Amino acid sequence: MSEKKAKRIGILTAGGDCPGLNAAIRGIGKTAIVNHGMEVLGFVSGYTGLIHLEYVELKEQQLSGILTLGGTILGTSREKPFKISQTDGNINKPELIKENYDKLGLDCLICIGGNGTMKTAAKIAELGLNVVGIPKTIDNDVWGTDITFGFDSAVAIATEAIDRLHTTANSHQRAMIIEVMGHDAGWIALYAGMAGGGDIILIPEIEFNIRSVCKKIEKRFEEKKPYSIVVVAEGIKVPENKHAASYIAECITNYTGVEARETRLGYLQRGGSPTAMDRILATRYGAYAAEIIARGEYNVMVALRDNKLATIPLSEVEGKLNLVNPHHPLVKKCRSMGVSFGDE
Ligand code: F6P
Repeated sequence: MSEKKAKRIGILTAGGDCPGLNAAIRGIGKTAIVNHGMEVLGFVSGYTGLIHLEYVELKEQQLSGILTLGGTILGTSREKPFKISQTDGNINKPELIKENYDKLGLDCLICIGGNGTMKTAAKIAELGLNVVGIPKTIDNDVWGTDITFGFDSAVAIATEAIDRLHTTANSHQRAMIIEVMGHDAGWIALYAGMAGGGDIILIPEIEFNIRSVCKKIEKRFEEKKPYSIVVVAEGIKVPENKHAASYIAECITNYTGVEARETRLGYLQRGGSPTAMDRILATRYGAYAAEIIARGEYNVMVALRDNKLATIPLSEVEGKLNLVNPHHPLVKKCRSMGVSFGDE
């Protein structure tokens, strides 16, 4: 009886980076090599490496010592191969992807990324190639999973920043406005807002009105609470050309006379070492992706539902967003403790 040929898989990391990417690469690689004798290739800079055939072979040695590292050892990009761009000339990217996949003799491609990455992965599956998606993003907005890795680290960083704002806000009796990332979703603002004891939390999913925000600040001053912390998601609706935090700070100063200062946390939320929770989640996702490939399950995204690993077809994930439900239990809890979402 002839021995079954070991599988050959490719990995890429695409979209904005986040803590935990290397833990996921390591989780895939170690499981694939140690447990299943697979060969593992890593494409450089997301889908760009797949289009231009830039890759490295990942052996156990390359996977050692990367668990705690931020960023991605493979690099990433926002390349969208199925979007026709003026600068691409006559390059047919989907065709190149198929050609390179076949040339390398891949059995499956693992795409680690957020919504955009999952959309592209679903399109690659439609080309007839085998794909598995792993959901990552600090924004936690990938549909079909309870949580993405990267989110816990971002929340931890944002929470620490809020903690530090409390003391300086108190000393100066100011309103401190902190803007956190999240794209169109308010997950980071909601979680860090609760963990950091924000007085007002503004998220895109709950429409705020500025009068209500200002009223809350004034009320706090009347109640002899001399400072306020306002946690603002970057995706809230503000006038064009304004950043969320600067707009809110400007309005508070103008309408209440309370001195307001803004902080935009920016890319600090995406950098550095992952939290223990993200290391574990990314490792679980990575190892699970290798396991499902070993048993021949393709064209799905790995997910966590009720703390259990699961899979969901990429075709179901594509084009959907996981946004905060305005009636989310955390929103209700915050409200019941007097936190304002600017909509009262
Ligand atoms: O999706 C992650 C994220 O950090 C968002 O929170 C943010 O809006 C965006 O990426 C920033 O993108 P870029 O890396 O292209 O500046």
